[in-house]
Amino acid sequence: MTYLTMQILIEGLALAAFQRIRDQSKNPLAAAVNAYVMQDEARHVAFGRLALRDYYPQLTDAERAEREEFTVQACWHMRDRFNQKEVWERLGLPVDECIEILDHSETMQLFRSRLFTRIVPTVKDIGLWGPKVQEAFAAMGAIEFAKIDAAALLDNDARVAEDFDAKMRLKDASAA
Ligand SMILES: [Fe+2]
Repeated sequence: MTYLTMQILIEGLALAAFQRIRDQSKNPLAAAVNAYVMQDEARHVAFGRLALRDYYPQLTDAERAEREEFTVQACWHMRDRFNQKEVWERLGLPVDECIEILDHSETMQLFRSRLFTRIVPTVKDIGLWGPKVQEAFAAMGAIEFAKIDAAALLDNDARVAEDFDAKMRLKDASAA
């Protein structure tokens, strides 16, 4: 449960959040720092994926069902709960309307796509892929991400960080 929560779900969420800054920041330092953090986080997710992929086939059906239900609940929260409800309340703005706007915004669509790109293939890969999980991801609009190669994605995070590093060295060399 700890690896599932931390290495798969939370660090998957972290990768999605860092990726936004790595790929979209106009500040080169912010982009580089996040590329390096992602290189590290990708290793943590890979660790969880390898550990659970070997271990989860040994679970009983009841144990697997519990983990699948937890994953579904957690994913619904990650999909829908980053809506800053308390901020809108505090500001005295019409909460339902604000959440509705945010829910359909491009920012939110991109966040969800980054998030589920990270989580869905990994969840499939570790064998939490019963009918309830598949139905839930379909209802979240996230089932298509199951086709993504989770390991290739993590390898790519490492490569992007190395590219950042190479460019930085080149700049240092040319400055010298
Ligand atoms: Fe980590």
